[in-house]
Amino acid sequence: MSMNRTGTVRRAAVIGSGVMGAGIAAHLANAGMRVLLLDVVPQALLPEEEKRGLTLASPQVRSRLAQAAVARMAKAQPAPLYEPSFAGRITAGNLEDHLAGLSEVDWIVEAVVERLDVKRSLFERVESVWRPGTIVSSNTSGLSVAEMVEGRSDAFRQHFAVTHFFNPPRYMKLVEVVPTSDTAPEVTALLTALCEERLGKGVVVAKDTPNFIANRIGTYGMLVTLEEGLRFGLTVEEADTLTGPAMGRPKTATFRMLDLVGLDTLLHVVDNVREKSTDAAERETFARPPLLEQLVASGRLGEKSGGGFYRKIKGPKGGSEIESLDLESLAYRPRSSVKGPIIDAAKAAKGTGGKVRALIGTDPKHKYAQFAWQTIKRTLLYSAALVGVIADSITDIDKAMKWGFSWELGPFELWDALGLEKSVARMKAEGDAVPEWVLTWIAEGNGSFYKVLEGKRFVYAGGGGGYAAEELSPDEISLAALKEAGRTVLRTSDASLIDLGDDVVCLEFHSQNNAIGGEILTAIRRTAEEVSKNWRGLVIANDGRNFCVGANLLLLLMEAQNGEWDEVEDIIRMFQSSMLSIKKLDRPVVAAPHRMTLGGGVEACLPADQIIFSPETYFGLVETGVGLIPAGGGSKEAAVMAAARAGGGDIQPHLNALFETVAMAKTSTSGFDVGRIGLKRPQDRVIMRQDARIAEAKRAVLELDRAGYTPQPEARVRVAGREGKAVLRMGVHSLLLGGQISKHDALIGNKLAHVMAGGDAAPGAEVSEQYLLDLECEAFLSLCGERKTQDRMSHMLSTGKPLRN
Ligand code: NAI
Repeated sequence: MSMNRTGTVRRAAVIGSGVMGAGIAAHLANAGMRVLLLDVVPQALLPEEEKRGLTLASPQVRSRLAQAAVARMAKAQPAPLYEPSFAGRITAGNLEDHLAGLSEVDWIVEAVVERLDVKRSLFERVESVWRPGTIVSSNTSGLSVAEMVEGRSDAFRQHFAVTHFFNPPRYMKLVEVVPTSDTAPEVTALLTALCEERLGKGVVVAKDTPNFIANRIGTYGMLVTLEEGLRFGLTVEEADTLTGPAMGRPKTATFRMLDLVGLDTLLHVVDNVREKSTDAAERETFARPPLLEQLVASGRLGEKSGGGFYRKIKGPKGGSEIESLDLESLAYRPRSSVKGPIIDAAKAAKGTGGKVRALIGTDPKHKYAQFAWQTIKRTLLYSAALVGVIADSITDIDKAMKWGFSWELGPFELWDALGLEKSVARMKAEGDAVPEWVLTWIAEGNGSFYKVLEGKRFVYAGGGGGYAAEELSPDEISLAALKEAGRTVLRTSDASLIDLGDDVVCLEFHSQNNAIGGEILTAIRRTAEEVSKNWRGLVIANDGRNFCVGANLLLLLMEAQNGEWDEVEDIIRMFQSSMLSIKKLDRPVVAAPHRMTLGGGVEACLPADQIIFSPETYFGLVETGVGLIPAGGGSKEAAVMAAARAGGGDIQPHLNALFETVAMAKTSTSGFDVGRIGLKRPQDRVIMRQDARIAEAKRAVLELDRAGYTPQPEARVRVAGREGKAVLRMGVHSLLLGGQISKHDALIGNKLAHVMAGGDAAPGAEVSEQYLLDLECEAFLSLCGERKTQDRMSHMLSTGKPLRN
């Protein structure tokens, strides 16, 4: 069989330009592929097409659907593209005029309506132009994979499988790859590698059963929540409060999520399982809930129809208000908040296991506790019954639920957190049928599905084989596992230095929100000393939710409010000297930020020799939002970048652009977008696979080391000086006159201009980095004394949002 390898899949086609087709096409373009996006030819003209004198034969009418989908991409929220210009990698067409184009691509993804007849006849047409070697995959949510390609040639079926993306494809990690018994193992392996390495997704290989893994269990969980919610007489808000973050699941919880998915779509999915199921109890659970049928019959489909379990209405004061459905009367009423000791206990508890134990155990007889236990218990038992049916391993089921439904813990991880033996004893006492394999596993003396030994996770292997070591790709470095294995080199309460092997260490932040405070700064300075003495190089990365949300403002605000200016200065100097110790380190340093990387987080990356961005990195010097300027070296680094970009030429245009970025607290919308806001240096780059960022950063450190690393020389920075400052300040002034910024914004802008232009230096003068740091410090101190800056800081601390005053 002729077979492409991952790197040679450069051209793709997506058929169907609806919600998923457009999202998948965008993400393939994100990965650098050239994409042909096709849809059906419209049967009627739109009024505006008629007005423009177009006919059904006009090319722009015939390819209208796909063209419109591409046009929407730039504006859609959340943005499907890492950068709007990536839409240029997509060519729109239609299935009649451009069908032959399919013979020129390496991968064809089908994402048309969820109808077996439509998909089958489409694949027949695809095969008429199919070139052997091209892989074909369907994005079906749960149709039979084998039935879709019945009647196709052996060769075509060998090249065919499902790649089930979750919505929205750019943001949801899961892709279920579902081969049939005909799919060539190389094709499954190639699709897996493509989705993981090129698209940055997490792949789980599933079996060809209705709705595959995540939707099967997720849908079951929703039906059970509805059923138990009605049984215990809970309101929609109560059920959502209990099945949301309190249970380690997203805020959309159950009913809000159903409104987003569409109640009609859910019924469709439910029918699909029931019709294919051979299990009587399952068929009963997957019966259409009368309540859902009633809602759908009355046109209440969820958000797309203006309401479902919730609806948004205009309040008396003109703002929008949310109402929720009364499950008995089916009338809407104002949404109420849900409180009580059980909810408080779950909120206060640490980790998902702790939260769920609090829900169930705080007041076990309470209806909230009973409801929580019943919904969880049934989901665990259902998942256990499907091991071997929908997936080969419990790890795959756990991953699918975490990546596809954003659960913090998969069912088997949660089961462990509840205590396997204890919860099974309770299930048995309540008369539940616990799958035989679970009882055997416990009888063999095993107290959990997973266990960690010396930093390695072992998992129930099935077939009487005991535990087996969990397989991790060499590209995935788990800092938690390394710490478990005793590889911590040094540690403060908020940061650790961890041995990654090959004489490279990783500095990990682990404070609350990974905000930078004194403990992290101390760790940075100690790291610099340690690395210089004993290691080949340093990675700065962590596996927190965000890389770093900035400096810890609380201490700073307290000192400022008390007028402790010496203390404030000490904090800034410590910040600056810590970052400088990284910059001056005589060993290579690579930073690998991910997700939110703001303010001080950016300042911790900029001293590195190279930054490797994850695709989802929201990177920005946002200090002006709290009434300050970057003073941990950030303003200085911006001046350094402007000078570097100017070479020997005019600094001003480069300075203007960077000044705008910092003054307006611009933040990138992706790793690729960092270039647009001007904070990417020539040596920095993006990798598609966030999971591989630490391994990739380690490789980069070793490469720099092997290339004969010499530390960055003490830079003299050419600055725009007095005249450059005047230009920047003129810009600030005109924004103030135009009413676009406040007086306080202007004050901050003017101080920032002073620092970034190099103060009162002569135009083109060369200054030391320390001189710029001193300017930063002076400006920062004076801003800390401003009432309005203090107001901005305290507003940010109490609401998490910037105050514009
Ligand atoms: P959609 O309704 O937004 O788009 C369907 C597309 O199919 C439209 O562009 C339509 O013009 C095209 N189409 C209709 N009839 C056709 C025909 N006879 N031949 C060729 N194309 C035709 O649907 P959506 O949501 O994008 O779903 C597409 C596929 O993705 C379905 O198989 C669905 O089950 C699956 N899916 C949907 C998810 C979601 O959240 N919406 C999530 C994961 C999978």
